[in-house]
Amino acid sequence: MATSVNVHGEDKVVVDMTKLVPSLPLETRCPPFPLRQYGGFWLPEGILPALEAIHTRFETRPSDVFRASFPKSGTTWLKALAFATINRDEHPPSDEHHLLCHRGPHDCVKFFEPTVAATGSLDDFAALPSPRLLSTHHVPYSLLPEHITSDDSGCRIVYVCRDPKDVLVSGWLFSRKIMDNSAAEAKGGNLDHQPPYTMDQALELFCKGRCITGPDWRHVVEYWEESERRPNNKVLFLRYEEMIREPARNVRKLAEFVGRPFSSEEETAGVVDAIVELCSFDHLRSLEVNKIGVLNLGATFGNDFFFRKGVAGDWRNHMSTEMAAMLDGVVEDELRGSGFTFDGVGDSTLTVSNVNAGN
Ligand code: A3P
Repeated sequence: MATSVNVHGEDKVVVDMTKLVPSLPLETRCPPFPLRQYGGFWLPEGILPALEAIHTRFETRPSDVFRASFPKSGTTWLKALAFATINRDEHPPSDEHHLLCHRGPHDCVKFFEPTVAATGSLDDFAALPSPRLLSTHHVPYSLLPEHITSDDSGCRIVYVCRDPKDVLVSGWLFSRKIMDNSAAEAKGGNLDHQPPYTMDQALELFCKGRCITGPDWRHVVEYWEESERRPNNKVLFLRYEEMIREPARNVRKLAEFVGRPFSSEEETAGVVDAIVELCSFDHLRSLEVNKIGVLNLGATFGNDFFFRKGVAGDWRNHMSTEMAAMLDGVVEDELRGSGFTFDGVGDSTLTVSNVNAGN
């Protein structure tokens, strides 16, 4: 099947994904997925056919809101916040039986391309009532179709970025959990022969951009550039560390951006704080639905894997200062001239207790 993909605003490239995928550069050292390099990014091989479906068959609606992020940057949190904010009339956030208390964030807002890749169908998303909240996990801005990115489409995108060092650490520990989980399943709980996946290995791959959806900085900068180019219009660009520091302010920004600002009555009734509390790390992690069960997206993820520590700056517990300097140096070089910086997002949110509190 052929598809047309507009890469980096250049002429449309027409490709047949099924034929193309086996010919793309392959990276197999970054668990749990084999990655293929496409459009300058290392994408999970399994989702590439979904990219084609999104370009050729997906019908957008002007009221659509797309949530996007580089993996391990706050996807789960932003899904919960956006879902609670957009659907607050039907699901009041102070309701102790709120949908998010019974269905996890990834069930309330499904991953778009892994679901399309797994089912081969867009029906789940076509059936959603408007306004739809959709979540892309892997697609960089330059690989989104024009029917999402154009001014005419009316669709909006909410993006969250995070300090790459915390992204690396969070992703590394997440991958190890998945590996342990699948090894335990395969060997009846015996992890003795599990091959190691060390921080050194993860760092090397991350610095080369050879990680899931990498390079991280390029994914971030593409969405940031769009947010700068069309302020308050197409892309709302959020930072995980600022959300930790000022969650209510960021929820207000989100609500305004999606065209649902809080009324003075809602402000007085404490709706913003109720959303923040409903979606807080401690609350979501404490819910039974987020402690048990699994998500199958080409690999098996325990729902609890998505709630580890939820702070800024935990990289210090897993990376040496040399490792951090190496990654910071790569990111600085790669971002030079872009106008974007991750600087100043991390340290002010740290407290001794939250950084040192175990794994
Ligand atoms: P850590 O591994 O550093 O704890 P993603 O959702 O993109 O996979 O990102 C996962 C990271 O977000 C994990 O970071 C996880 O603990 C954190 N996280 C999950 N829910 C959160 C919440 N409600 N508030 C803050 N951080 C959250």
